[in-house]
Amino acid sequence: MNIAATKDPVSPVQEVASPADWSPESWQNFPALQQATYPDQEALARALGKLADLPPLVTSWEILALREQIAEAQQGKRFVLQGGDCAESFADCTSPLITNRLKVLLQMSLALVHGLQMPVVRIGRLAGQYAKPRSSDFETRDGVTLPSYRGDLVNSIDFTEAARIPDPELLLKAHAYSAMTMNFVRSLVDGGFADVHHTEYWDLSWLDHSPLADEFHKLTESLGQSLRFMETITGRDVGSLRRVDFFTSHEALHLHFEQAQTRQVPRQWGWFNLGTHFPWIGMRTADLDGAHVEYFRGIRNPIGIKVGPGLDRSWLEALLEKLNPQREFGRIVLIHRMGETNIEDKLPGLIRAVNDNGSPVLWIADPMHGNTESTGDGIKTRRFRKIKIEMDLAFEIHRDNHSRLGGVHLELTGENVTECTGGARDLSDEDLKREYRTTVDPRLNYEQSLEMAMLIVRKHAQNAS
Ligand code: PEP
Ligand code: CO
Repeated sequence: MNIAATKDPVSPVQEVASPADWSPESWQNFPALQQATYPDQEALARALGKLADLPPLVTSWEILALREQIAEAQQGKRFVLQGGDCAESFADCTSPLITNRLKVLLQMSLALVHGLQMPVVRIGRLAGQYAKPRSSDFETRDGVTLPSYRGDLVNSIDFTEAARIPDPELLLKAHAYSAMTMNFVRSLVDGGFADVHHTEYWDLSWLDHSPLADEFHKLTESLGQSLRFMETITGRDVGSLRRVDFFTSHEALHLHFEQAQTRQVPRQWGWFNLGTHFPWIGMRTADLDGAHVEYFRGIRNPIGIKVGPGLDRSWLEALLEKLNPQREFGRIVLIHRMGETNIEDKLPGLIRAVNDNGSPVLWIADPMHGNTESTGDGIKTRRFRKIKIEMDLAFEIHRDNHSRLGGVHLELTGENVTECTGGARDLSDEDLKREYRTTVDPRLNYEQSLEMAMLIVRKHAQNAS
């Protein structure tokens, strides 16, 4: 990953150490929600000990480079694109699936860079997004009750007793699969896969018959012309565009797993979660006095906080005070996920609370998690129309409340799945039965993702005018 190019000598990112009353295991003194119950505690301890000895997945200087980029996004100089699967699975750790996921994110970022006229911070929900919060600890089918599936990090999705018992060996497997994913992503990115001079490499075959193909080809053609123009007048290659930064993120849910990857780095201040660049706290584990907030308080990574309709002004202010007492730039990303029916009611007050409070944050919109519904046949889906409405409202509400929307967080895949309805091809409830592959939340498919990127560009332009 091309990290060196991102250093800014006038960075506002401060060197603040982890708090003196904190340690990587201090979360264990607080109530921890959404944790797996392992029947064999000795096996768990052995796996965690091994995990703590394994090399990290990311480095502290990459994490700090991301903090700098987030600080710049806070100043309106960058836009964040965070996207990937709701839940990664070990079975999906294959060359084509990883390549396609990276492709769609790069293509979306290309549309955004070109349309917004600013650099994009690319963050994948990948290389570690293996743990899921569940609404119930147990699942019952035909009178049989078993522990719920909590993601490949914890157990397996098959509905058998053996599959559902939390297995500590999966923690090591998840680390290995994350490393394999990361290794492949790094090689693709460093090897010129993201070279904007060769966007023809990026095309997926079906783009040729997509209703959006023309608009996308026009965009890449116009980008190519701008590049050739710049290279002609400067007489130089636009070298930095040959390589891109790419960061990883996941929900830091399983605290023993996160703790084992939380390390101190020589000549660096504080503790870092070296299992990912950008961990986030989900809505269900954002309790002020809970273990997750305690864990996040001490790590030096930039952190995401999901902000749902249930989070009120005083809760948000208290979270900011606890997680960013020194008001550091580039540290807090608030990811709002209100739902299209709640956003107008809930978001303005929270924006005003943050403005009044003065704590620096970057706001980004997750227009998906608040819009999950079930079809008449009981299939979990999201309507593209509602996702777009929430996205558009997010831009308008920030503008009207003296704030700025600095990015987007989407659940998506590079495959041609049918999990969300609508979009340019107008997928129907009936279509959902065709290629419905997610094990957890419905994702935008390749075409819907690209369409969303283009719609963001349009909305951004309208909002600015
Ligand atoms: C998620 O991002 O997959 C998730 C569970 O988020 P939230 O906590 O916003 O529902
Ligand atoms: Co999800």
